Amino acid sequence: MVRLRLRPFGPGPPFKTFLNGVIMTTQAADSRDKKRLEFFEGAAENWEAQNYTPEIIGQVRNLLLSLNLPAGKTILDVGCGRGVLIPILREIMGPAAKIIALDASAAMLEGAAAKDSEVKTIQARAEAIPLPDNHVDLLICFSAFPHIHDKPAAADEFYRVLTPGGTAYILHLCDREKINMHHDGHRAVHGDHLPNSETMKRMFTEAGFAETILSEGPERYFFSAKKE
Ligand SMILES: C[S@@+](CC[C@H](N)C(=O)[O-])C[C@H]1O[C@@H](n2cnc3c(N)ncnc32)[C@H](O)[C@@H]1O
Repeated sequence: MVRLRLRPFGPGPPFKTFLNGVIMTTQAADSRDKKRLEFFEGAAENWEAQNYTPEIIGQVRNLLLSLNLPAGKTILDVGCGRGVLIPILREIMGPAAKIIALDASAAMLEGAAAKDSEVKTIQARAEAIPLPDNHVDLLICFSAFPHIHDKPAAADEFYRVLTPGGTAYILHLCDREKINMHHDGHRAVHGDHLPNSETMKRMFTEAGFAETILSEGPERYFFSAKKE
């Protein structure tokens, strides 16, 4: 199925695009995205010290353990930041697993590369993943999906790079309402929201995914989408 989407990137005259329900011009969308990425680039150095206590790392580990990830597979960590997931993924998936870490921020990726000598890092946007079709068995997007500027485009890319039978996971350590409120408290990421459940399911179904599951509680947001 070929679908045409309006993309907020690329050359050409401004056109209208939807962002969080607001119609914006390309320039407005671009400027908002630029500010967000500048924020992450600037926050990279102290990212872990400011955001990850040993207790939080323990919660991330429990979350990843609950996925029953198989050993030895290829996994793509989208919006990997400084790579907090990488040592846990290595522990769970073993030495033969191929871990690919992708982030738009070079400064964030430096930290991810230092986590594991075997990890492959890619500086790119989730909306345009420079990997071949059917390349990864699993995909994780932890604490990053709300920040992705063009979410439908990212869902399309997740589908494309996953092998048939593969699963994409969108994960957080709290529910959607808390995440959205938390982001609204920061100027650089204000309005970076997790879409509601209907929108999530529709977006991933339209991307081609066959089966989606969404569950949330005070300490967890879990969304998975399986490619047939
Ligand atoms: C809140 S941080 C989370 C990082 C990491 N997953 C963690 O939990 O520590 C969000 C990350 O998403 C990245 N990011 C934002 N928009 C992106 C995009 N369109 N494509 C790829 N990465 C993006 C940022 O650079 C940042 O590293």
